[in-house]
Amino acid sequence: MSGVNEIRSTFLDYFRKEGHEVVASSPLVPRNDPTLMFTNAGMVQFKNVFTGLEKRPYSRATTAQKSVRAGGKHNDLDNVGYTARHLTFFEMLGNFSFGDYFKERAIELAWNLITREFGLKKDKLLVTVYHTDDEAAGYWKKIAGFSDDRIIRIPTSDNFWAMGDTGPCGPCSEIFIDRGEHIWGGPPGTPEEDGDRFLEFWNLVFMQYEQVTKDERIDLPRPSIDTGMGLERMASILQGVESVFETDLFRHLIEVASSALGRGPDADTVASFRVIADHLRSSCFLVADGVLPSNEGRGYVLRRIMRRAMRHAQLLGAGDPLMWRLVPALVREMGQAYPELARGEQMITETLKLEETRFRKTLVRGLGLLSEATEKLGAGDMLDGETAFKLYDTYGFPLDLTQDALRQRNISVDLAGFTNAMEQQKAEARKSWAGSGEAATETVWFPVREKNGASEFLGYETEQAEGLIQALVSDGKIVDSAAKGDAVAVVVNQTPFYGESGG
Ligand code: SER
Repeated sequence: MSGVNEIRSTFLDYFRKEGHEVVASSPLVPRNDPTLMFTNAGMVQFKNVFTGLEKRPYSRATTAQKSVRAGGKHNDLDNVGYTARHLTFFEMLGNFSFGDYFKERAIELAWNLITREFGLKKDKLLVTVYHTDDEAAGYWKKIAGFSDDRIIRIPTSDNFWAMGDTGPCGPCSEIFIDRGEHIWGGPPGTPEEDGDRFLEFWNLVFMQYEQVTKDERIDLPRPSIDTGMGLERMASILQGVESVFETDLFRHLIEVASSALGRGPDADTVASFRVIADHLRSSCFLVADGVLPSNEGRGYVLRRIMRRAMRHAQLLGAGDPLMWRLVPALVREMGQAYPELARGEQMITETLKLEETRFRKTLVRGLGLLSEATEKLGAGDMLDGETAFKLYDTYGFPLDLTQDALRQRNISVDLAGFTNAMEQQKAEARKSWAGSGEAATETVWFPVREKNGASEFLGYETEQAEGLIQALVSDGKIVDSAAKGDAVAVVVNQTPFYGESGG
């Protein structure tokens, strides 16, 4: 039992036998939470169950949840390809208690699964707890027989989990495995903690509070449990490999990319292969859930992910668009667990092909400009902001693609210069726009659009959704509040209503 598909089913079966309802993954675009860019954890679909707003017919659940961490509070995009464990798309295995069991049973269930079902060696394991959480420390001693030195107390937000700026939250306890001295890194809480030696693979959150606003935190109606295990990390442990990219699923994707490119990974190119495999997963799953590449919001995060992968394909010598050719391999690997992949295969393939065909038109010229502009630069230098902006504006290079391209040479980008160039261009646009006759009467929409971006249209996917009010407009002016009976326009960040004119 160690293939990714088997680990997923062993986990779900274990919790099903322990009286948990097996619930399907929710989509990557959260319908019940307009504040969140992407579903970034298993608990997102249960947010309102924790707070008591929503009732379900069960008080224990288990899921394998599609998650993306590439934008918003939890963002791993920059690290992908360069560490052994970061991914933009991953599967989070979780068990949840909604006011049913709490700390002791959660620790016991986790301990039995990893030591009995998964067979991990106790002497390789250690845990962290929030520094004031004596209770959790006590249960770890009792259940796992750990001595104090294997229960590390962490005083920072690393051991206080929150989904976003608001929402359910609480202290947490993370389970780590020591993968041996031959890998660089130190235990959590030490200066070397970012190394890969001590790998965190399961986070048990003791949900106790709801962050209502930045300054107000209240108790949840009943203490609850939310846990999240990284499936890919567990696969790397059980398969005895150092990196998530060496697990069966990623190995297969990288093999298919290698045969399409006519070359395999070596020390210089391995990061590019890994970026391609990871970004393929996030791109395909996002498109399957209705996100399309665009210049705004979620669509722009998708575009950044896609284009980053496409630059790496170019780097590996792809003569034609590559990403779309890898889709069948992904459907083969993951289509059974996630049927939406097979259902959306044609749409996914077309979207990837179109985006890569378009981007390749400017990619080579953009890379030429970039290499000219950095010819004389060395490690520690900075690329000027105007060039980075030109690459963005004219050649379609998202800023992080430019940063990624310069990363290996240790050259950074002048971010203030980039923002300046962007502001200048906006100011120019505003000037010419304000003078355009009749439209000038509607100038109020300009700052609204500039501050909040476009409202995202969800109508192809759903006829019901929550939105976050971003502006109220009354008589051509932005207002802070409106009273009953006032006629105001309400601007929201996402909506299933279709904008009939002006997009
Ligand atoms: N919500 C927690 C996390 O994402 C545990 O599931 O780590």
